Amino acid sequence: MAAVKCIGILTSGGDAPGMNAAIRAVTRSAIYHGFEVKGIMRGYKGLVTGEILNFTSKSVSNIIQLGGTILKTARCKEFTTPEGRKIAYENMKAAGIDALVVIGGDGTLTGAKIFAEEYDVPIVGLPGTIDRDLGGTDHTIGYDTALNTIIDSVDKLRDTASSHERLFFVEVMGHTAGYLALYSALASGSEAAIIPEMDTEVDQLAELIGNGFRKSKNSAIVIVAENPETGGATALAERVKKEYPEYDARVTILGHIQRGGSPSARDRILASRMGYAAVEAITEGQRNVMIGIQNGKIAYVPIAKALQQRKEIVRNHLELVKILSI
Ligand code: F6P
Repeated sequence: MAAVKCIGILTSGGDAPGMNAAIRAVTRSAIYHGFEVKGIMRGYKGLVTGEILNFTSKSVSNIIQLGGTILKTARCKEFTTPEGRKIAYENMKAAGIDALVVIGGDGTLTGAKIFAEEYDVPIVGLPGTIDRDLGGTDHTIGYDTALNTIIDSVDKLRDTASSHERLFFVEVMGHTAGYLALYSALASGSEAAIIPEMDTEVDQLAELIGNGFRKSKNSAIVIVAENPETGGATALAERVKKEYPEYDARVTILGHIQRGGSPSARDRILASRMGYAAVEAITEGQRNVMIGIQNGKIAYVPIAKALQQRKEIVRNHLELVKILSI
């Protein structure tokens, strides 16, 4: 493998708070190690269109506290085709980039894996997603901030739920994973979390209202993970109207508000450590790995493994939500 002289950085897929802290850490660690740095705009799209900028230490000044991503992000159709990836490779080479650090979630890492299989490009991934749905890492950049945003909102909703004696279904993001729902329920003292991991096993609504939910409670908050297959919180509220008309049910969908805002201290620290580790990985000749955090320590995780082996839901924690809301 030819020596790496220049590292390109991109952010792709859904933005996540802490991506800027990661861009800053990668840029400055790379400069510290003597690499040139290029910022690629709009994820893989910038590789296809050749929107590539020279980055200096100043390019990443005063961004650690900002949500979103200064590199912008996109979900790029062209990059999913072999023709698009060929153009991307040619543009990358023309810009003098010989290694990539990609920051994003499963779509971003899937793109990285395919690109690395087709072309001889060392790629290091950073898990940047509020969904926390990647394997080989205990946390992802953005998850903690999103969790805090959710609990801030739920704390406010509780005032109305309690004053009007209502049952609130609060829908949160998570793609196909229930981590945001489960842990925001635990952290906000909600009555239950309804998550996709349990959908095929039990009728979670019947269990909540029919068997478990205390009738003497005058209000309740149930956190529901988004789920296009079942219809999420809206479908549950419709069911309540028909099957349990004694409850005054309401729906709040938190939506993209969960992706915004200044990153928490935890996300900034995670992004800074992971960004530095990504550059170290390149200096060590690592390729096609994602930087993970396992029991507080940095780990190199093969991208394929990160994509296949999502962490399992801790069922005891789901049970704990119920126990603590009796
Ligand atoms: O992956 C992050 C995420 O916010 C998911 O939780 C959600 O399902 C999806 O992105 C929404 O995507 P978009 O921004 O394209 O609506």
